[in-house]
Amino acid sequence: MAKSKFEYVRNFETDDTCLRNCYIVVRLDGRNFHKFTEQHKFAKPNDNRALGLMSRSARSVMEELEDIVIAYGQSDEFSFVFKRTSTWFKRRASKLMTHVASHFDGRVVLYPSNRNLKDYLSWRQADCHVNNLYNTVFWTLVQKGGLTTAQAEERLKGTLAADKNEILFSEFNINYNTEPAVLKKGTTLIWEKRDETVTKCMKLPNAEEKEMTVTRSRRRVQAHHCDVIGEQFWEEHPDILEDDNC
Ligand code: GTP
Ligand code: MG
Repeated sequence: MAKSKFEYVRNFETDDTCLRNCYIVVRLDGRNFHKFTEQHKFAKPNDNRALGLMSRSARSVMEELEDIVIAYGQSDEFSFVFKRTSTWFKRRASKLMTHVASHFDGRVVLYPSNRNLKDYLSWRQADCHVNNLYNTVFWTLVQKGGLTTAQAEERLKGTLAADKNEILFSEFNINYNTEPAVLKKGTTLIWEKRDETVTKCMKLPNAEEKEMTVTRSRRRVQAHHCDVIGEQFWEEHPDILEDDNC
């Protein structure tokens, strides 16, 4: 098509190509979910149906976009990590973000080293822990202890993690350690290889048919609710990250 005289407006677009060699993290966060969860009567502090829906949505994003190597979610947020060498949409930040997001606000952040990326995921998981412990005690004080939300807030002012654990244990007989891992650790989605055996009906040259078993390795998205702050997770899954010396 011939260029029109209006073509110059294209030059107003700024270059948002993501720096090479960096992991690209797209973090989505539900907009005004404080209100949204009230309006839709989500269970407090954690609604398992909503958490399941978030995980299933994230899983389908990951299955659709193969350059995502790991995804981590908690509360109303999910982070998707694109591999360092991804050339998806020529690494244009706005394209990447809008294709991952739907009703969520999103941001693109670049992490140049494995340490930085691990620290990013650790930061999100630490946030999950702090918020979930607080929310668990807060709503236990309200729902089981009969306090108003203002009284519960006052009661928890200045308390440390150990104090919160103690309130749960001594007053409500709840051991925080035995709370579901999905709530304490969030959800980590990664690709895992699984051997899959299928039976196939093969036609032999002499027109006879024969049943044969074929084993093939398939990549599947697997959900984990484990610690990603320590080294163990990374040692058990060495394929997620690429070498720092690329
Ligand atoms: P913006 O992100 O700034 O638009 O505000 P926000 O209201 O979404 O708050 P933010 O992202 O900081 O926090 C998420 C909020 O979602 C929490 O404060 C809760 O109110 C709500 N939320 C997340 N998960 C659950 C859940 O499982 N149950 C309920 N009841 N609320 C939840
Ligand atoms: Mg939000």
